[in-house]
Amino acid sequence: MKSRIPSESLNIHTELIMPGHTNPLGNLMGGNLLSWMDVACGVSAIKHCGTICVTASVDNVSFRLPIKVGDVVVLKSFATRAFNTSLEVCCEVYIFEPKDRTETLSHTAYFTFVSLDENGKSTKVPQLQPVTEAEKILYDSAERRREVRLFLAGKMKGSETKYLKAMLED
Ligand SMILES: CC(C)(COP(=O)(O)OP(=O)(O)OC[C@H]1O[C@@H](n2cnc3c(N)ncnc32)[C@H](O)[C@@H]1OP(=O)(O)O)[C@@H](O)C(=O)NCCC(=O)NCCS
Repeated sequence: MKSRIPSESLNIHTELIMPGHTNPLGNLMGGNLLSWMDVACGVSAIKHCGTICVTASVDNVSFRLPIKVGDVVVLKSFATRAFNTSLEVCCEVYIFEPKDRTETLSHTAYFTFVSLDENGKSTKVPQLQPVTEAEKILYDSAERRREVRLFLAGKMKGSETKYLKAMLED
């Protein structure tokens, strides 16, 4: 199976925040943003795998900056690492400032998708080959994030972890 590079799964999705997306203070509701992030990352997963992909988990998401009605929000998603039947996808959310055309990073989150065949059975994913320095850093750190999420989901025993065990023993 041919390996892929992160830029092959890059997906850029833009939204204009409308009053129906916000709470009474005019701030974007977190659930709307999560839904857009899930779809954006799902598209990246499909671009990487070429199969049906389902969301297996979403890592902790902190809403650091409020997004206001009228803001233009840009979601950039791309695969960071492929495992066996699953892959990690990063979603970066930026607020676009039209006056000076800058983008401010407001959120980052990691989603895990599992590739399924036409019978709904999990199936092997193409490996991912990082190219840039930033992609290599994300690729290496994905192993640690995977350990934490599988441990928290009860899918990996503490004794099976490498990084987490070392951290807890510190
Ligand atoms: C995700 C799903 C396919 C996993 O199936 P499963 O039989 O429990 O999983 P398995 O133990 O066979 O593992 C399959 C892969 O999923 C990964 N996985 C399973 N649970 C996970 C979790 N909570 N977080 C991250 N990865 C997970 C495993 O690590 C494995 O990856 P690998 O092959 O690359 O090592 C299954 O739980 C499912 O269909 N869930 C519903 C998905 C869905 O509907 N999503 C939309 C939510 S509304």
